[in-house]
Amino acid sequence: MAEEPEADARPVHLPVLPEEVLDGQLAGRDPQALTGWFVDGTTGAGGHAEALLEACPGVHLLGIDQDPEALGLATTRLARFGERVRLRRARLSELCRVIRKERIGRLAGVLLDVGVCSLHLDRPERGFSFLEDGPLDMRMDPSRERTAADIVNHWDESDLADLLYYEGDERAARKIARALCQARRRAPFLRTAALAEEIARAMGGVHGKTHPATKSFQALRRAVNEEGDELIAGLEAAEHWLDDGGSLCVISFHSGEDRVVKRFFQQGAKEGRWELVNKKPRSASAGELRQNRRARSARLRVGLRRRKGGAA
Ligand SMILES: C[S@@+](CC[C@H](N)C(=O)[O-])C[C@H]1O[C@@H](n2cnc3c(N)ncnc32)[C@H](O)[C@@H]1O
Repeated sequence: MAEEPEADARPVHLPVLPEEVLDGQLAGRDPQALTGWFVDGTTGAGGHAEALLEACPGVHLLGIDQDPEALGLATTRLARFGERVRLRRARLSELCRVIRKERIGRLAGVLLDVGVCSLHLDRPERGFSFLEDGPLDMRMDPSRERTAADIVNHWDESDLADLLYYEGDERAARKIARALCQARRRAPFLRTAALAEEIARAMGGVHGKTHPATKSFQALRRAVNEEGDELIAGLEAAEHWLDDGGSLCVISFHSGEDRVVKRFFQQGAKEGRWELVNKKPRSASAGELRQNRRARSARLRVGLRRRKGGAA
C-alpha cells in the first residue's frame, strides 16, 4: 500500500448508490467465485472499494486518486485487506501508465465515481465551499498549477461566461461574468466567501434553497480539475484494459458528464465493444436520499466490455 499522510477525524464521504454499484460491478457474477483485478479510478475515502473487497474474497483492487488526503483515508480504511489492495496517487489520465507499471493485465471491473467528495466540500481550507470561507483554490490534486482564483482573476469576460454556461449550466453566466470582471478591478478574488457574495449580488440576492453560486462553483471546479478530459481518459483506459465480460460502472453528477458516458456506451455498443446493462441511468432511492443528500444528482451507468472471440 502507498505511504500517505494520516487522515484526520472529520466526517468522511458516504459512497453513493452503494448497492447499485456493487450489483453493476458483479454483473451477474458469483461474488464468492469471482477473481481478478478491479480498478477504482476515483477511490476517495474507499467506501465503494471496501464494499467490493468485502463481498468478493477472491478479488484484488488497484485504487487510484489524485488527492493525497483522500488516499490517506482509503489507506487506513482498506489496510485490513492487506495484499489484495494497491493504492497509488494518480489521475485518470495516468491510469493506463499505472496499470502497465503494476503489471496486473486485463481487468474484471472498473469504477469511476467522478464527483466531488465530501472531503472537499466539508473542508473549507480546500476552497470548494461557498457556504464556508476558504482560499479560492478547488484543486483536488494540490500539485496542479492553476487554481480557481487564477481563472476568476485572469480569464477574459467572454471565456469566463462560456465556462459558467457550458460547465455549470448557469443561465445567468453573462451577467455573473460581467459582475466578476468589474469587481476584480477593485481587488482580486482570493476567498470563496467573497466570490459567493459577489455572485449572489449579481443574481439579486439569496432566495430559495439553492445558493446562487452553486452552478458557478461547479463550473470553476470542473475547469480547475479538467474534469471533462479526465472522464474521457478514464473511459478510454477502461475500454483498453477490461477483459471480455468485465464491468464498467460510471457515476456522474452533472448532465453534461452523463451525456458523455451515455454516448460512449451507445457508440461502443453499436460497434460491438460494449453491452449496455441499463439503458436508463440508475439513481438514488428515496431511502438513500434521506441519509445522503449529495446522492440526489448521482447517475449510474453500467456497461460490459465485449471482445471478439471472448477473453484474450
Ligand atoms: C466522489 S469521490 C469518490 C468516493 C469513493 N467512491 C468512495 O466510496 O469514497 C471522487 C474522488 O475521485 C477523485 N478524483 C476525481 N477526479 C479524479 C481524476 N481525474 N483522477 C483521479 N482521481 C480523481 C477525487 O479526488 C475524489 O477523491
